[in-house]
Amino acid sequence: MVKDFVSLADYAGDELLALLALADELKALQKADEPHRLLEGKTLALIFEKPSLRTRLTFQVGMFQLGGYSVLMDARLGERETVSDVAHNLERWVDGIMARTFKHEHVVQMAECTHIPVINALTDMLHPCQILADVQTLREHKGHDLSRLKVAFVGDGNNVFHSWAHFAARVPLNLTLVCPEGYAGNPELVERARSEMQGTFEITHDCETGLRDADAVYTDVWASMGQEAETAERQQIFAPYQVNDRLMALAKPDAIFMHCLPAHRGQEVSADVIDGPCSVCFDQAENRLHAQKAVLATLLGDV
Ligand code: CP
Ligand code: NVA
Repeated sequence: MVKDFVSLADYAGDELLALLALADELKALQKADEPHRLLEGKTLALIFEKPSLRTRLTFQVGMFQLGGYSVLMDARLGERETVSDVAHNLERWVDGIMARTFKHEHVVQMAECTHIPVINALTDMLHPCQILADVQTLREHKGHDLSRLKVAFVGDGNNVFHSWAHFAARVPLNLTLVCPEGYAGNPELVERARSEMQGTFEITHDCETGLRDADAVYTDVWASMGQEAETAERQQIFAPYQVNDRLMALAKPDAIFMHCLPAHRGQEVSADVIDGPCSVCFDQAENRLHAQKAVLATLLGDV
């Protein structure tokens, strides 16, 4: 098993499926009130350069439920001291680092220069923890045979989409990005993932084509954290891609709606859709807890 959880692309398909199976097991134990203190006495440092509700709460609660302890740090990496000095200090005190940073390279650098596991809790490039929880949710609603399923990601080819592309490069499923021209993600990352995919992969600017036969319609904010200055411009460009009843009607009749949250009702999604019966966004949020506990137990424990 890989030491760190920086990118889903670092994992083999069967390793990702093993993490998902463990996430299901830990969820069942938690629901049954069965203790599962797999990280007794272990500690995790949490570094947040950007705001967070779900990631912060689920890592803290997750460490507690696993019998460990977490220490929250507010930090802007590379300002007061170098990234590697921070990492070399932390590895003397804690058993693992979870980091949400602006620069993806900072998480990579910490992973490379320490002997303790480093977990990527979102960077400008990737959000692997989110996709693990999303796939756990997708399996709960649509079954474990992902190769039969089509996920249509509508909106910006951003960090969340990149991690979806990485997942699809390791575990067969059919992925389509439906986006405005010029927003199809990092070309190098997307091409590499495309070359490794076993399911179908499509990028289209046309909602009708992209949403046809979709089992899950996924969207995320139009302007990610750090892109606030582009908000007004993006609102115009992305307006035709709002996931509303009209767009959902283009997918399969039993399609689910997914969103990593936070959401902006009236922008990337209408209130009717996100608050309606096909929305599973709070299941996704719940599964952040269980999926990340699987990552923590695997990397910091002896699972
Ligand atoms: N989805 C997600 O990562 O939420 P937070 O930004 O609140 O952690
Ligand atoms: N793409 C979003 C995800 C938030 C969880 C961002 O980076 O802000």
